[in-house]
Amino acid sequence: MITATAPGKVILFGEHAVVYGRPALAAPVTQLRARAVVEMGDGPEVRLVAPDLGRATTLAAARADNALAATARLMEQRAGRPLPPGLSLSVSSAIPIASGLGSGAAIAVAVIRALGDCFQLELSREEVSALAYEIERLHHGTPSGIDNTVIAFEQPVYFVRQQPANRIETFRPARPLRLVIADTGVRSATKVVVGDVRRRWEAERDRFEAIFDACGRLAEAGRAALAAGDLAAVGRLMDENHAQLVEMTVSSADLDHLAGAARAAGALGAKLSGAGRGGNLIALVDESGEAAVCDGLMAAGAARLFRSDVG
Ligand code: MEV
Repeated sequence: MITATAPGKVILFGEHAVVYGRPALAAPVTQLRARAVVEMGDGPEVRLVAPDLGRATTLAAARADNALAATARLMEQRAGRPLPPGLSLSVSSAIPIASGLGSGAAIAVAVIRALGDCFQLELSREEVSALAYEIERLHHGTPSGIDNTVIAFEQPVYFVRQQPANRIETFRPARPLRLVIADTGVRSATKVVVGDVRRRWEAERDRFEAIFDACGRLAEAGRAALAAGDLAAVGRLMDENHAQLVEMTVSSADLDHLAGAARAAGALGAKLSGAGRGGNLIALVDESGEAAVCDGLMAAGAARLFRSDVG
């Protein structure tokens, strides 16, 4: 039996603008993980199982848009040979789906690692990330690559989408970040939101370019504040990034309500994280204020909370 896991992620600064070449910062959420298990059994088929979703199929029968099957086929191509009959690939995940926490990329990375072991491939984290990017393209259309990168690297990253190669710099904040992650309970498909931002950018190019520039400047300032250990500045910049995401129309009444509640309860800053229009909010807290922020978020209607430390 081979088991591999991969973490969820949050975007600290710069979602959406990162698709348009602006810098962004992301961090893994190591407590929330996707898991892939490969087992050998009998039978003529390669089986794909997702017990959490109540789904099971075979590789031969899987539809073209089945991401698990696409990942298995990608790994067969990479290895240059088919998966053996009787193999069973099972995936499960503690990361809420369609919630901005990188569940699709985390499942892809876990499966790539497990099947990489199965084929006895030596895969670098860069290669795991590049393979997961191919699957991200199925989920999202035009992904920036930040999700697969932060999840495959399992470290905070400064990321710029660019040619010929993305700029990827891992970092550690000078002082650890204490994050409360609040789920609106509303699912939102990244592909839809990213596509909608693209349509708006096409219709109002100058305005959206200016918003993306502002997000890029906030990501750079956030990076400097993290390097300086200035958590109050990090929080303020998160608030400003949320305001830019509101301008982009990717926030929602629920997200704005939770952001307001987190700030009122003493959070240093709060912003939506990921594609938006639902999914999760992140609030930066200090140790003494954490319980009050958690209470405030639950009272404001958060469906559930997660905790994550960065650095
Ligand atoms: C999703 O986690 C982040 C987005 O910027 C999309 C992307 O970068 O591919 C919304």
